[in-house]
Order: sequence, then structure tokens, then C-alpha cells
Amino acid sequence: MDNVKKTVFSGVQPTGRITLGNYLGAIRNWSPLQDEYNCLYCIVDLHSLTVKQVPAELRKNTMELVALYIACGIDPSKSALFIQSHVHEHAELCWILDTIAYIGELNRMTQFKDKSRKHADNINMGLMNYPVLMASDILLYNAQLVPIGKDQTQHLELARDLAIRFNGRYSDTFAVPEALMFKSGSSIKSLQDPSAKMSKSDTNENAVVSLLDDKDAIVRKFKRAVTDCDTEVRFAEDKPAISNLLNIYSLCSGESIADAEKRFAGRGYGDFKLAVADSVIAVIEPIQAEQKRLVADKAYLESVLKQGAEQAERIARKTLDKVYRKVGLVGRIR
Ligand code: TRP
Repeated sequence: MDNVKKTVFSGVQPTGRITLGNYLGAIRNWSPLQDEYNCLYCIVDLHSLTVKQVPAELRKNTMELVALYIACGIDPSKSALFIQSHVHEHAELCWILDTIAYIGELNRMTQFKDKSRKHADNINMGLMNYPVLMASDILLYNAQLVPIGKDQTQHLELARDLAIRFNGRYSDTFAVPEALMFKSGSSIKSLQDPSAKMSKSDTNENAVVSLLDDKDAIVRKFKRAVTDCDTEVRFAEDKPAISNLLNIYSLCSGESIADAEKRFAGRGYGDFKLAVADSVIAVIEPIQAEQKRLVADKAYLESVLKQGAEQAERIARKTLDKVYRKVGLVGRIR
């Protein structure tokens, strides 16, 4: 990897459906970074184990997400695309960082509290440790830039704190990472409740567009999307539902919000909703076709994963060796 370029690291869990929100807010913004930075794009399967999974489904989702990354423009010849559990240094660094992370600071994490409420029968140590594993993902590669959604800022802040704490205690070792946020797409809302983010785990089918939804489902969901009181297609704070649809339309069609407002002036919500659905379908359909083709080509996906893990491991090994030395572990004699 190029030493002059900065390093970017990001990851998505292979759980459930990837939403239009995940795509517009995150994955879509990853491919343009590939020329300017050294990019590592990871499928964080170990994180997924913090909530109960059906093993066969987890395995299937993981390979589908690999294909989806590539279908969304991640180019394995430019970026390291790999599965977290393939590079065991992630779990090992997590242990070391655990020894400097305080129970108090993990206990305060908003997402930990939310997930504890949601999965009250399974508040496991991994759930609490989740942000430390995420910090390990980032710090192992000395990533300076981390594309994340707003909901992950607290976790990134912890990664920064742990880097600074480790550097202070043992001498300079880790780069202190910064969040890379994409304004436009980071706030795609639920189609049923524009005050909530469009979330993978939403139980209301109509609230969420999945990247794997077929045409009919997409049209149906936009037709049923909630709207605001009047009938004007206008972007405004007091019109959160229509503003969300305008945002989606603009991101998918490439037309500015102002131009879209003009185009739909006086045409009512029905027409507008269909146009939003069409713009989404035009973006999603080619991705689905490419993903389907890739999922069928297991040999290719495996070759990508092999190469990605090797690339990542080279960097991870070096960092972990250094960390082990700094904390006073005796290196293995070979
Ligand atoms: N916690 C992130 C999320 O749910 C996923 C993630 C794990 C991640 N490790 C990461 C994101 C490292 C960025 C960098 O969105």
C-alpha cells in the first residue's frame, strides 16, 4: 500500500438486509475514495455475533455482502476487501485495548444501552465490548479517516480516546482517527416515521427499502410512505416526510432538490412518489443484477477474500507485534 496516502477503514455488519439508507449514506460514498486513499473495507462478522444469529444465515449474508460491496463499486484491485474474522489480529488487539478501556465508559455508550433494552435476554459481554472491537478494527491499520454514519460518532470518539490513552501510556503507536461523514445521505429516514432513521432492524416492512427489494416492493413502499399535511412537494423543516423523499430522489436521480421542487410543483404527492420509486429502482436494479452474478461466482469471491485478508494481515501483524512489544509481552521465538 502507498505510504503517502492516508488510510481509510470502514465496515458493515453482515446482518439482515442492507437498506437504501446504508447505501446512500455509506457504501455509495466508499468507491470514490479508492483513488485518493488506501482503503480497507471490511465485513465485520465478529460484531454480528453480539446478537443471536442463525449460523447458516450469517454465512450466507456474509458472502452476499461481499458481492454487494463489489457491486457497489468497491474494486478489489484498489482496496482491501476482507472479512474481519479472517484476520485474527482484530480479536487480539481487542483484548489488549480491553485492558485500557474502562467499564464505566462502555456502560455509558448509547448503542449499548439501546441494544441491551432490545435484547434484554442476551446482554452479553460482547455487546458491551462491541466498541472496543470497533476501535481495534480502526487502530490496527492506523486509519486516519473512518467513513461512518452519525450513529457511530460515539464509538469513533472511544477509538480516539483509546488511541490517545495507549499512546500516552506506552509511547506513540496509533494514529488518532477522524470521522468522515457524508452530509447528503447520512440521514435517510424511515418511510413510515421521518423522525427515525431508516434502520435495518425496523420491524415495519414498509418503513425500509432494502437493496434487495424487487421493483414491485419498492413501488409499493413509496406509495405507502407517509407524507405531510399540505400537498406541496417542498423541502422544509416542517415537512420532514416530503423532505426525506426529496432527499432520496435527489440522491438517486442526481437532480438538485431545487430543480425537483420545480419539476413536481402542482403535481401532487402521487406522481411524486412514483418518480421517487423510479429513481430508486434505476439505481438499485443494476446493483442487484451485478450482485446476483457475483454471488453465483463463488470462486471469484473467494479469490477476492483471500487476497484482501492477506493484504490486511500484513499491516495488522506489524501493528500487533509492535503493540505486544510495547506492553511488555515477550515475542515468540521462531
Ligand atoms: N459499528 C459499525 C456500524 O454498525 C460497524 C463497524 C464495525 C465499523 N467496525 C467498524 C465502522 C470500523 C467503521 C469502522 O455501522
